[in-house]
Amino acid sequence: MHSAPSTRAGDRATYVREMFARIAPRYDATNRVLTAGMDEAWRRRAIALLAPPKGGRILDLCCGTGDVVFHLLRTDPTLRVTGIDFCVPMLEAARARAAKEARATPEFLEGDVTSLPFDDDAFDGATMGFSLRNVVDLDGVLREVLRVLKPGARFVNLDVGKPQNRLWRRLFGLYFYGVVPLLGGLVGGSRQAYAYLPSSLTHHPDAPHLRDRFERAGFVEPRYVPLMGGAISIHIGTKPKARAA
Ligand SMILES: C[S@@+](CC[C@H](N)C(=O)[O-])C[C@H]1O[C@@H](n2cnc3c(N)ncnc32)[C@H](O)[C@@H]1O
Repeated sequence: MHSAPSTRAGDRATYVREMFARIAPRYDATNRVLTAGMDEAWRRRAIALLAPPKGGRILDLCCGTGDVVFHLLRTDPTLRVTGIDFCVPMLEAARARAAKEARATPEFLEGDVTSLPFDDDAFDGATMGFSLRNVVDLDGVLREVLRVLKPGARFVNLDVGKPQNRLWRRLFGLYFYGVVPLLGGLVGGSRQAYAYLPSSLTHHPDAPHLRDRFERAGFVEPRYVPLMGGAISIHIGTKPKARAA
């Protein structure tokens, strides 16, 4: 199993960025194969839980090639969507897709989600797909998301999870830690990258603990929706409404 260097946060972030740069050209096709096409339905579910307001300004963190961004715009072309990611080849793939498929024009920005280049209270909602595991400073990202959301706005995070049922967890583990690196090597072109991706789950909090981290960061009504028996989780948190003076 390949793990990212754990010594310094900067080293790990560089490792993650370079790894995604290697797999960017075949990232979308590999996802469809690894999830048997189900990732599209999970993204739609996440967006339904966000329930973005018409014409709202939405931030997609770690947008990669733009999968969540394009789903948002298909759901509601009036949305003003910004995707942010620190991997340039992933962003280039996103911009190439935008030229072909988006009815509205999304904005794709290069940036690190641990230090967002936006004002406070700027967005009506935020999303993140299959990425929180890869970010070095999880609590820092949650604080940043909270800062840039408007009071009352939601953050929805879709990611791989850890099933509670022991038998299912074992079976899922065989697939995730055994089959994903093999298929990732064949379809995605980098067995090493697709060995790192499952390992990023190992030290990630399970669903109830991640919900607690949302709460500790300051989100209200934190909750999660398990899909596929908990192999996939959608976490939802809301920025508290401003108190009346
Ligand atoms: C597994 S991909 C997910 C892409 C997309 N959200 C999706 O649903 O397909 C993870 C993405 O997170 C990005 N990423 C990881 N850490 C980041 C950070 N600190 N700041 C910005 N992007 C980051 C990577 O460059 C990569 O594009």
